Amino acid sequence: MDNQKITDEALARLENCDNPRLKTVMTSVISHLHSVVREVEPTMEEWEQAIRFLTEVGHWCDDKRQEFILLSDTLAVSILVDALLHQKPAPASEGTLLGPFHVPGAPELEFGANISRDRTGEPTLVTGRVLSMDGSPIQNAKLDVWQASAEGYYDVQQPEKFPDMNLRGIFRTDGDGKFGFCTEKPASYPIPTDGPVGEMLRAVGRHAWRPAHIHFIVSAEEHESLTTHLFVAGDPYLNSDVVQAVKEGLIVDFNESNDSTEANSFDLSTPYFKLHEEFVLAPTL
Ligand code: BEZ
Ligand code: FE
Repeated sequence: MDNQKITDEALARLENCDNPRLKTVMTSVISHLHSVVREVEPTMEEWEQAIRFLTEVGHWCDDKRQEFILLSDTLAVSILVDALLHQKPAPASEGTLLGPFHVPGAPELEFGANISRDRTGEPTLVTGRVLSMDGSPIQNAKLDVWQASAEGYYDVQQPEKFPDMNLRGIFRTDGDGKFGFCTEKPASYPIPTDGPVGEMLRAVGRHAWRPAHIHFIVSAEEHESLTTHLFVAGDPYLNSDVVQAVKEGLIVDFNESNDSTEANSFDLSTPYFKLHEEFVLAPTL
């Protein structure tokens, strides 16, 4: 039997779909799925394994764990969606993935506050400015910041170990567009591998690591909000991030400093790391 007829008939059955966007999406999904099947020619056992895998991915999802997003992340679907949706005009700063560990409602903190509530890890001072495309400073821009601990875990992954909202905070820029906060130097960490996505990574011989980074959502009136990371220069996983979210312009030097005057003014011990970043926001259309 000409198996193309099967595909043609499956597509024809969309003829009464009165939502044009849904019809476009379903036509594409059915066509591509059928192409995959024609190309791969799965055995019955392989087809059953695929169904079992997707079922398992669903079973791992709850209000704290989203294994489908992890699957999308590790197949670089999330970063592709992000690239298509959030292309920024130069010189606006580049965005990257939101990731699953953002928690709304972090506390608003003063300039210079330390988001490492248990003060572990290597002390780090993060300063910078938020600017418009013409270089003018943006006052009262909001920076929602979060990161993993020096051991590579987010507070929500180990709630019994970390104080609530550890390594999270919201900061505002001053009249010169400046912001600043203290933290601990982030470490590279593996994404959760105890579920079916971890099994998939192992099966195809991939590692699960993300290079060390700090997450930011930078927003300001009349500007497009920017969801991004700053990555630690020199991290061994910069070229093989498991979710392919690294962009050259987001890699920053964490320089070691022994400036005790500056350290004292931020209540940090020496030596400490410091980095400076200027975020440039695109105007809203
Ligand atoms: C993160 O950076 O927090 C992250 C992103 C994608 C998958 C897992 C973690
Ligand atoms: Fe992260």
